[in-house]
Amino acid sequence: MNELKVLDKTFVPFISEATIQEKIKEIAALINAEYQDKKPLFISILNGSFMFAADLFKQVTVDAEICFIKLASYKGTQSTGHVITSIGLDSNVKDRHIIVLEDIIDTGKTLHSFLPQLVNQQPASLKIATLLHKPEATVHPLTIDYCCISIPNKFVVGYGLDYDGFGRNTKEIYQLKD
Ligand code: IMP
Ligand code: MG
Repeated sequence: MNELKVLDKTFVPFISEATIQEKIKEIAALINAEYQDKKPLFISILNGSFMFAADLFKQVTVDAEICFIKLASYKGTQSTGHVITSIGLDSNVKDRHIIVLEDIIDTGKTLHSFLPQLVNQQPASLKIATLLHKPEATVHPLTIDYCCISIPNKFVVGYGLDYDGFGRNTKEIYQLKD
């Protein structure tokens, strides 16, 4: 893997395609064991989680549904702290077993703002699955039920994650070069 140039920044290879796929298989196995006969509803948070959601969902062997919601709290490489819902949730959450899919949990602000909206609709259960987690960046602590990879507090792109909209279209994850 070579360096990756995205807009004005340079990124270096960080997590390989093989590692990403292996970690996804591991959490899919846990989900398949836990959700037999529960018909879970996955709620994937766009835009960043679309590749993770697709690859994870392919590994899910229990009956399951998936839907997508768009939330945003980022501009450039900094969290703005303002969470905007731009596409609402159209699925019925009441009495469903919900698994929220995130690309990355950074400060936790996005889910801290969004989860109460789900809890209000009285799901049967609510769990969080994330591809990446930056524990050092936590502002709002969350219980993360399924975490693929914990990473240091450094900006990353690739595999769905963006820098100002660009850099999503890679199979690997790259880290901002010092
Ligand atoms: P949080 O609300 O601070 O937890 O941030 C969550 C959202 O910020 C994620 O869903 C991403 O869209 C975005 N984000 C956080 N860290 C990064 C990063 O390193 N690269 C790209 N996007 C990020
Ligand atoms: Mg996101």
